[in-house]
Amino acid sequence: MNKGKILVTGGCGYIGAHTIVDLVANGFEVVSIDNLSNSRIEMLQGVAKIIGKEIKNYPIDICDKAALLSVFEQESDILGVIHFAAYKSVPESVSQPLAYYHNNLLGLIHILQACESYQIKHFVFSSSCSVYGNTLQLPVTEDTPVQEAESPYAATKIMGERICNDFAKSKTDFNCTLLRYFNPVGAHESGHIGEMNEKPENLVPVITQTAIGKRKQMGVFGTDYDTRDGSCIRDYIHVSDIAHAHSLAILHSIASPTAQVQLYNLGTGKGVSVLELIQAFESVTGVQLNYTLEGRRPGDVVQVYADRSKAEQTLNWVPKYDIKQMMASAWQWELNMQQMDL
Ligand code: NAD
Ligand code: WQD
Repeated sequence: MNKGKILVTGGCGYIGAHTIVDLVANGFEVVSIDNLSNSRIEMLQGVAKIIGKEIKNYPIDICDKAALLSVFEQESDILGVIHFAAYKSVPESVSQPLAYYHNNLLGLIHILQACESYQIKHFVFSSSCSVYGNTLQLPVTEDTPVQEAESPYAATKIMGERICNDFAKSKTDFNCTLLRYFNPVGAHESGHIGEMNEKPENLVPVITQTAIGKRKQMGVFGTDYDTRDGSCIRDYIHVSDIAHAHSLAILHSIASPTAQVQLYNLGTGKGVSVLELIQAFESVTGVQLNYTLEGRRPGDVVQVYADRSKAEQTLNWVPKYDIKQMMASAWQWELNMQQMDL
């Protein structure tokens, strides 16, 4: 049964593509908007291999309001919007703050204006654990106070949540779900889609690129933190688990009789250190990583992991994949990219 049409912005990106797969598996029809500024159309070809049909992508910039509205005009029966499209590199946001404020905030405002014009009632916004900054309260719950943003990127997520909240409050029929992802990693178990980033800075793609030889070596940034082995602790969560939470959020939104804003942490709840992650990768793949112990990376938080009980209780969201499956799928995807010459 067709449960309705969902517009996914950023559908050719890492989390967007995995979410399209999950939405289709849960009976939704999907259209995508992605200007391919940080992705390739091959991602939707991978999606098509998994789901057995093509997904239409409009390659427009959501900052171009006329082009955006024309998509809503052509796709007249949109039930809900999941908004991923944004720039996401923390260091790049420090060197190019205006590009980040422009793209992430203007894009969001345009999408919400389109939702208002076309009376869309269900909306999901990609937020981030970066809004918690260097928190003292662990695990972090949705009530843990948001900290002063440590980067322009994090500021766009704090402001983005505020914009969503204020807009939703001004409406009587707008359901808005804010999802704070912790550290999404891994790839779809089919091996057809995963993270495509030529020069990643995030730990897991750096690990797989080092293992395959795209990088000669990698560094562990900081081994003198006050943690069990001295390296930083994060909450790594499989991207397919993150993706599934979006289907559950839309289903919950559709079933909710009254308009509301909902906020959920999406993490496993388990903190894993950098050295533990490297060890997990080596034991799952049998590949020894060439790494050195380096100094701290400026701006890193020491440790952060989620209390995920709210998403479990309300959305019935329980992550399926453990750290070994995350590492195995990330490695399989790196090998597949090499074979496909991506
Ligand atoms: P991604 O870069 O792989 O995907 C984002 C997609 O949006 C890209 O395909 C890009 O081409 C597209 N896009 C960007 N600006 C656009 C514009 N103006 N018009 C049209 N398309 C545009 O990133 P991702 O990892 O899939 O992240 C998706 C969302 O989740 C982002 O909002 C990101 O900030 C958020 N998030 C990501 C992480 C993470 O670690 N990956 C963690 C927390 C939150
Ligand atoms: C994880 C740990 C590094 C690379 C970022 C954003 C956050 C969210 C997720 C979007 C840290 C260490 C890394 C390397 C290393 N994204 N590391 N060597 O910093 O937790 O979060 O991505 O919303 O907003 O800030 O993720 O993967 O960069 O780092 O030792 O070569 O791995 O120092 O301790 P982070 P990460």
